[in-house]
Amino acid sequence: MDDNRVYVFDTTLRDGEQVPGCQLNTIEKIEVAKALELLGVDVIEAGFPISSPGDFQSVVEISKAVTWPTICALTRAVEKDIDVAAEALKYAKRGRIHTGIGTSPYHIKYKLNSNQDEIVERAVAAVKYAKKYVEDVEFYAEDAGRTDNVYLARVIEAVIKAGATVVNIPDTTGYCLPNEFGEKIRFLKENVKGIDKAVISTHCHNDLGMATANSVSGIMNGARQVEVTLNGIGERAGNTSLEEVVMTLRSHKELELFTNINTKNIYKTSRLVSSLMNMPVQPNKAIVGRNAFAHSSGIHQDGVLKNRENYEIIDPAEVGINESSILLTARSGRAALKHRLEILGFKLDKAKLDEVYEDFLKLADKKKQIKDDDLLVLLGELGKGDRR
Ligand code: KIV
Ligand code: ZN
Repeated sequence: MDDNRVYVFDTTLRDGEQVPGCQLNTIEKIEVAKALELLGVDVIEAGFPISSPGDFQSVVEISKAVTWPTICALTRAVEKDIDVAAEALKYAKRGRIHTGIGTSPYHIKYKLNSNQDEIVERAVAAVKYAKKYVEDVEFYAEDAGRTDNVYLARVIEAVIKAGATVVNIPDTTGYCLPNEFGEKIRFLKENVKGIDKAVISTHCHNDLGMATANSVSGIMNGARQVEVTLNGIGERAGNTSLEEVVMTLRSHKELELFTNINTKNIYKTSRLVSSLMNMPVQPNKAIVGRNAFAHSSGIHQDGVLKNRENYEIIDPAEVGINESSILLTARSGRAALKHRLEILGFKLDKAKLDEVYEDFLKLADKKKQIKDDDLLVLLGELGKGDRR
């Protein structure tokens, strides 16, 4: 295993699909799974088979349709769940069972009405039971974000001894601060016997808007799998977004960490998920939002036209977006207007450009954005366009 490789575990079809109104049918899920395969994710969490016959069937069909990534099915630490997950995974070339239980004081007391010792026993029993079916067993310590590190280390050590190949440390409620989450991962790295036999995974939620920061902090402290969704969709405020983590690692070369993601497919996969799930992407969403590579103020437009890197840290082509967009608004300068007119085939000398710019500003003060048609009208009225 390459120590610098970060495995991408995509849970768009499981945690992402839990969002109300975003449910997909089996055919749609297969389409997304195939797109995820082309994107280069390492693991596709295809569903929670015990939850419904439809989810069971989707895991079966995705296992048949996809060749390269590992197909993962979620369970609780319950034998029946594990039996059903194993059955759903029977066609997977590489199948993984993802089992687990809550470990925080809240979950132990109020959700499970149990105690710490009993939770360790149930966790170990679930991992051993899943091992009867598959070699690759991932264990999740639900609400690890609010679990005391010493107790968490005890649980993780026990499940690794029982055969867990991946240990997932979810910040289920999106509560942690980036340094706190990073320290949690480091604590496990340094204090769990046998930790090198398993891959540590992060699974962060975005309730405080820190899912990406927490995931990256986890990776910087030793996690080598990151659980993500396209566009960051998921329960409540969502999960860590795939595109943000992947492009953070790619942009920060000094971290010397890499994923297998074919970044040129990011944008089209994001669009596919958004349209099938009927879940619009916010315009200012990092990497895939409509405005992520759009420049509207005069100073920025002039800077980008001189050299893209003045205001862009990522070349849009790297994520499959053709080019940065220069939006024409009342905040635009002459450089942007000249650039757009040249694309439309009009080359104006300085005096003419100044004249057209005056009229452009008057119009732009009345409209939110000036489109190509508006420019043509402006030039037509003025009769000043010299087509090249
Ligand atoms: O957020 C969470 O804790 C989960 C687990 C089931 C992995 O989604
Ligand atoms: Zn989750």
